[in-house]
Amino acid sequence: MSRQPISAAIILAAGAGTRMNSATPKVLHAIAGRSLLHHAMAAATELEPARLVVVVRHEREKVAAEVAAVSPEAVIADQDEVPGTGRAVYCGLTVLDATAVAGAVAAGGRGASALAAKAEGLVLVTSADVPLVTGELLAALADGHTEGRNAVTMLTARVPSPGGYGRIIRGADGEVLRIVEAKDASDAELAIDEINAGIYVFEAHALRTALSSVGRDNAQREMYLTDVVEIVRESGGRVGAFIAPDAVATEGVNDRVQLAAAAATLNRTILERWMRAGVTIVDPSTTWIDADVTLAPDSTILPGTQLLGATTVGTGASVGPDTTLRDVEVGEGATVIRTHGQLAVIHAGATVGPFSYLRPGTELGEDGKIGAFVETKNAVVGAHSKVPHLSYVGDAVIGEHSNIGAATIFVNFDGVGKSRTSVGDHVRIGSDNTLIAPVSIGDGAYTGAGAIIRKDVPPGAMARNSSPQQTVEGWVEARRPGTPSAQAAKIAREKQEEGDA
Ligand code: UD1
Ligand code: CA
Repeated sequence: MSRQPISAAIILAAGAGTRMNSATPKVLHAIAGRSLLHHAMAAATELEPARLVVVVRHEREKVAAEVAAVSPEAVIADQDEVPGTGRAVYCGLTVLDATAVAGAVAAGGRGASALAAKAEGLVLVTSADVPLVTGELLAALADGHTEGRNAVTMLTARVPSPGGYGRIIRGADGEVLRIVEAKDASDAELAIDEINAGIYVFEAHALRTALSSVGRDNAQREMYLTDVVEIVRESGGRVGAFIAPDAVATEGVNDRVQLAAAAATLNRTILERWMRAGVTIVDPSTTWIDADVTLAPDSTILPGTQLLGATTVGTGASVGPDTTLRDVEVGEGATVIRTHGQLAVIHAGATVGPFSYLRPGTELGEDGKIGAFVETKNAVVGAHSKVPHLSYVGDAVIGEHSNIGAATIFVNFDGVGKSRTSVGDHVRIGSDNTLIAPVSIGDGAYTGAGAIIRKDVPPGAMARNSSPQQTVEGWVEARRPGTPSAQAAKIAREKQEEGDA
């Protein structure tokens, strides 16, 4: 039997999430680089609902902004001051019905046809705090709903410690009777190990009718969505439960302990997907990879590595150990060791680290090198060029096949504004140089060790400006008598004199 189309998905995201103890609304807390709300919206979208509604209230503006960022087509519904998941769905459905009527009127419908334009067909309801549910699981729930010819089908799971979840109460023949919230449950009911995942498929008409008779006579004085189940059954509608094959996918996030648990579970899923796709992950227990990261086959991720945001890693590249990259592109065969990087591009065959800090706007050319204790920002380092040791490169363009000597500083900030430095191809910057921007060094030029470069250096020139060395013989014995240095100097002098004699 083919699945009926989903006419609307309603995602509940209006709750305060008090158990998080956070200034950030619960549904905006992130795991694997996406907010909990984003995960819920992504899963619901896989069922291709004709419309997606997100119900908001707590921190409305922040949550609505995230909705718009994830999906500009999604509709926002505002929950009023009446609390509870039932009220949230009511408010979502009201917006759906209102916009359906508006759509029908706009299309030339009026009167009866406008009434008939209320949301119809199947409505998926999910919670924004159940982030591990996949589109695949939602599809299985919807299939179960269609096969059972139900008016409502809820997603359930059997769990070893059902804690604060709602319990599924079944009758003598195993039929679902109702859901009881943990706070309203008897001891016998609390012993039930089948829980409500807070995700449902409804026939729209049955949902609308049942919601109109949900009250607030419970421990929390809230309009419970869970009450709809019993109301539908008592009015003759078929009620079904689809038991999730993997209970872990239904785990809700209500506090930060559950947030960390969900993050770990999702991370493990992501790592396993990449390992099966041909990526070597040496230590999954210390590797974190965000949902939007892309890894090519035969790349290697070493222990203690976090790949975040939209980071990509090419074939044959090796990243880690102990490396954090956010929105970084790592080219084929590149090597990145003990590095912190953000918004940087590392081209094929290049090497970075150990102990490098790549800040936004860094681009390292093919076979180039950024080495130990080097910080870069807004810096293009050309192909085959090297910044091997102890340097800062800010607001600079370096050409190809150039070498920057150890401990060179690109002085880009005069205390007020930033200026740029350009270094040509095949340049040799000596060690311990200070390049004071704005300045430019032409192709093939050299600079001496310890140079301070304030003026442009033409192609092929040698620029040096360190002053001649002054050597004052006997200075230490005369000016620092009695010190270990003076003692060492004396012994060396006497040896020298004996040799000379
Ligand atoms: C809910 C279910 C419970 C189930 C559990 C699964 C009810 C009454 N209980 O409990 O049976 O086992 O989920 O995770 O439905 N929300 C609103 N408006 C509100 C209140 C909540 O939009 O007024 C949203 C929240 O933002 C959240 C979701 O609904 O995304 C669930 O709310 P929450 O308070 O976490 O419900 P639970 O106590 O977990
Ligand atoms: Ca919850």
